[in-house]
Amino acid sequence: MDLVVRNGTIYTPYGLVSASIGVEDGKIAWMGRAAPEGVRVLDVDGKLILPGMIDMHVHFRDPGSPDREDFETGTMSAAAGGVTTVAEMPNTLPPVTSAERLREKRRIVERKAYVDFALVAGAGSMSRDEIKPLAEEGAIAYKMFMISRFKELAVSDADMLDNLLLIAETGLPCLVHAENEGLVSRGVERARSQGRRDPLAHSEFRLPLAEAEATARAILLAEEASVHLHICHMTSSEALALLSWAKGRGVKVTAETSPCYLFLSTDDLERLGPYGKVDPPLRGPEHQRALWQALRKGLLDVVASDHAPYTREEKERGWIDIFDAPSGSVGVETTLPLMLGSVNKGLLSLERMVEAFSTNPARILGLYPRKGCISIGSDADLVVVDTKAEFEIRGENLHSKQRITPFEGFKGRGKPILTIVRGEVIWEDGEILGRPGYGKFLSPIRRRV
Ligand code: DOR
Ligand code: ZN
Ligand code: ZN
Repeated sequence: MDLVVRNGTIYTPYGLVSASIGVEDGKIAWMGRAAPEGVRVLDVDGKLILPGMIDMHVHFRDPGSPDREDFETGTMSAAAGGVTTVAEMPNTLPPVTSAERLREKRRIVERKAYVDFALVAGAGSMSRDEIKPLAEEGAIAYKMFMISRFKELAVSDADMLDNLLLIAETGLPCLVHAENEGLVSRGVERARSQGRRDPLAHSEFRLPLAEAEATARAILLAEEASVHLHICHMTSSEALALLSWAKGRGVKVTAETSPCYLFLSTDDLERLGPYGKVDPPLRGPEHQRALWQALRKGLLDVVASDHAPYTREEKERGWIDIFDAPSGSVGVETTLPLMLGSVNKGLLSLERMVEAFSTNPARILGLYPRKGCISIGSDADLVVVDTKAEFEIRGENLHSKQRITPFEGFKGRGKPILTIVRGEVIWEDGEILGRPGYGKFLSPIRRRV
């Protein structure tokens, strides 16, 4: 064996097992009690070993905005947060709306990645002829914005239905940012006309109604097209009710939320100012409770960070006028500790946590069982956790280029201490051991092009 991870409490599809893992050629080759010989032996002293986390919603800004983030810092931050695979979004510069652009982006970011990565294609108002070649080039999924913020990735209802019908033929899922553009811009205009520029105005005037309406519309269009719809960053009880309705009807729909909406609410906005500005906005505590319940029940399928960094200068503008700051927050490194802390507090079972942050993303993206589980033949992507150790989130310790986190000072029990990607230790207790270019480009195992 190339590597033996000895004495673990292993999270397997069949439950927790006290055993060792043998790795050969980057894959899990053996599991059992008696540890075989290995070139390298790592004794984890009974600690919990989870499958590597899969963050299916990150923005690493590469190429295009190196002041905000790049693939090196983004994937280092992932490694330090127990994330072994990321799916990266297409709103880079230029946006990923053709096979050629996907190829070029892959070329640029491949030599920088510390962890494995997949690229999401844009499906906006570009030529319909580009949709299928994007899948042939290895896109993991498509993404559409029902708001107009990212011009080339925004869709009208007609574009959306046309694109969904073509995406259905590729067998890939379509991710959507579901908010109603008209209602969102009406809110901003009304806030401005009332002289509101304070942090709370972003949430108060950007209504759950805008999210619910677009969610309903996306569901109906996806049902018509028989496509797998994945709704990003769900935040409100209204949207959850629609999700439940759609699943009950048998529509092929999955949904995600992010730690922002689970751990923060409008109560935090005054304190956080522009650093609490995300789209959709933070909601009231009643929505927060509904999200936790939906996650526990399995109605919400996925937790993803929506890691969306902006520079301090860009964000700071929002203290004077919240509408002048861009929306987005860092999060790829802090999601696992925050979720482990919640497991420790009894808010969520370990099983649901692993499902939402590893197994389900792998299934949705067509990477399962290569990723998302600890099983013979799977990639040896592992994260070792000290369930008793206390973590405290400190922006200054983050590996992202942006070190201001809305979770500053959050504490809990349950700390990732070691990250392994395909049998290589890439992060250990505060230290990056991997190298740029080690991370592999992933295309889906299952695809129908
Ligand atoms: O808050 C957000 N930031 N929401 C989005 O939909 C986009 C993202 C970004 O890329 O900045
Ligand atoms: Zn979005
Ligand atoms: Zn996003």
